[in-house]
Amino acid sequence: MKTFTGRTAVITGAASGFGREFARIGARLQMKLVLADVEAKALAATRAELEALGAEVLEKVVDVSKADEIEALAQATMARFGAVHLVFNNAGVGSGGLVWENTLADWQWVLGVNLWGVIHGVRTFTPLMLESAKSDPDYQGHIVNTASMAGLLNAPNMGIYNVSKHAVVSLTETLYQDLRLIEAPIGASVLCPYFVPTGISDSHRNAPTAVAKTPATAAQRAQQALSVKAVSSGKVSAAEVAERTFEAVGADQFYIFSHPHALGNVERRMEDIVALHNPSDPFAARPEVREILRASLKSEDRSS
Ligand SMILES: NC(=O)c1ccc[n+]([C@@H]2O[C@H](COP(=O)([O-])OP(=O)(O)OC[C@H]3O[C@@H](n4cnc5c(N)ncnc54)[C@H](O)[C@@H]3O)[C@@H](O)[C@H]2O)c1
Repeated sequence: MKTFTGRTAVITGAASGFGREFARIGARLQMKLVLADVEAKALAATRAELEALGAEVLEKVVDVSKADEIEALAQATMARFGAVHLVFNNAGVGSGGLVWENTLADWQWVLGVNLWGVIHGVRTFTPLMLESAKSDPDYQGHIVNTASMAGLLNAPNMGIYNVSKHAVVSLTETLYQDLRLIEAPIGASVLCPYFVPTGISDSHRNAPTAVAKTPATAAQRAQQALSVKAVSSGKVSAAEVAERTFEAVGADQFYIFSHPHALGNVERRMEDIVALHNPSDPFAARPEVREILRASLKSEDRSS
């Protein structure tokens, strides 16, 4: 997709973090913007900021895990702007815990937002984009799904998140291949950030009651502490990642990384697979992190 000005972008998770930065760049490029998020107040603040820059904005409170809410978002988008060109299926939540200890509600919440949210976005918007392409010989579209480095690796104590993000990588690679198969003028990219300062460590602000009311396990508390530290000390900003993402869309680049140097871990994982080695120690480069995690699990064990 080479032209952004005057085209329409739909962004989920637009009220914070990466989503808000995509929206800011979209406004700068004079795109028409459709902003969706579950947090009404933060979304209204984002809309006000972008309108003050002169952007045309449609704002909708949407829970991406609900098919009917994404379908209503698509209808409202078509009614207001007549076509969709760029879709960011970006809303997501973080979670931790030993994989056998996570509750059914944990699984349903995190897979609901991180995976079903992307599935609904792809299911709903791709056919509308293909339809627009039929009647417009100059049509160009692109879909960006936000996964994570956790979609290419499997660190311990964050199983649901890993599962959700691996599935988003798989879905997006397949989407790319399917679009190429039918020679559609629509590109696809998967964004795999590492630790970047955003609101992700505070994801429980949006958790359903069944998750919010269940006391966190020792493993979840330990993971939460690690996540706060890792995310808040990230040196690459969400704004920089959003810039890179727009450049990748313009260049039809599929994989987008915030921290390319972390790809050594992915390389090691692939080597393990083809050499039939058991999975490598994910903490090999930073054994102190494993020790902090183990120590906090042991001390929590003693205190519970
Ligand atoms: N920040 C990081 O270090 C990091 C690393 C890897 C991947 N990611 C991914 O980036 C994406 C964006 O997260 P972020 O880091 O900007 O965090 P963030 O918390 O700042 O933004 C996420 C947004 O999603 C919204 N959201 C949550 N549940 C929703 C729902 N059910 N429906 C609609 N909106 C919902 C939140 O209200 C929030 O505005 C997520 O998919 C996350 O998994 C982030």
